[in-house]
Amino acid sequence: MRGERETLSTVGIGGSLRSRSGSLAALRVALDGAAESGAGTELIDVRELDLPAFAPGRGEPPEAAARLARAVSDAQGLIWSSPLYHGTVSGSFKNALDWLELLSDEEPAYLTDKTVGLISAGGGSQGLQAINTMEFVVRALRGWTVPLVVPVAQAWRAFDLDGRPRSEELELQLRMLGREVAAAALKLSAPSPRNLDTRPVRERTA
Ligand SMILES: Cc1cc2nc3c(=O)[nH]c(=O)nc-3n(C[C@H](O)[C@H](O)[C@H](O)COP(=O)(O)O)c2cc1C
Repeated sequence: MRGERETLSTVGIGGSLRSRSGSLAALRVALDGAAESGAGTELIDVRELDLPAFAPGRGEPPEAAARLARAVSDAQGLIWSSPLYHGTVSGSFKNALDWLELLSDEEPAYLTDKTVGLISAGGGSQGLQAINTMEFVVRALRGWTVPLVVPVAQAWRAFDLDGRPRSEELELQLRMLGREVAAAALKLSAPSPRNLDTRPVRERTA
C-alpha cells in the first residue's frame, strides 16, 4: 500500500519532431501545474525518444521504449500532448503509444487505475479531433481521463520563444489540467474502503 507521504508521479508524454514544438511547450506548463500539487513529474519528449516504428514480436525493445514503459508503469498520473496532424494525432506520438504494448503483460495491464490529462496543439482554430482520438486510446488501455482537456488553437502563436504561453488564460488552463491530473491520481490510487464489495453483482447475497 502506498504510504501517505509517498509522492505520486505524473509523467508527461508528447511533443512533435519539430525543434520548437507547441505541444511540448504546452506539456511543460501542464507538468508545472501537477508539480504545484505536489506530484513528482517527468517529461518524456517524443522527439528525444526517437523510437523506431513499433513492430510486434521483434525481440528486445530498444532502451528508450523500455524506459518509456517503465516510467508509465510507475506513474499514477499521465499527461499526453499531441500535435494535430491531418485531423488526428501525429504518427510519432501514436507510435510512442503503440510501444505501451510492452505493458500488456503487467499486472494490472496497461493504464489500469491511471489518470490521464489530454492536450493537443493545432495550427487552426481547434484541436478536439486529436483529443478525442487520444481518449479512445486511454479507454482501450483501461485508463481514466480527467474531464478538463486543453486543445491549444493556433499553436504557432500561442507560445513565446521561451515556450511560455502568451495568454494568461492558456497558462491557467494548462496548469489547471496538471493540477486536476495530480488530484485525480491521488483519489484513484487511494486504497478502496474495507467494506466495499467488489464481487460481481450476481455473486452477492444481499
Ligand atoms: C503534417 C501536418 C499536418 C497538420 N494537420 C493539421 C490539421 O489537420 N489541423 C490543424 O489545425 N493543424 C494542422 N497542422 C498544423 C499543426 O497542428 C501545428 O503546426 C502544431 O503546432 C503542431 O504541433 P507542434 O507545434 O508540437 O509541432 C498540421 C501540421 C503538419 C506538419
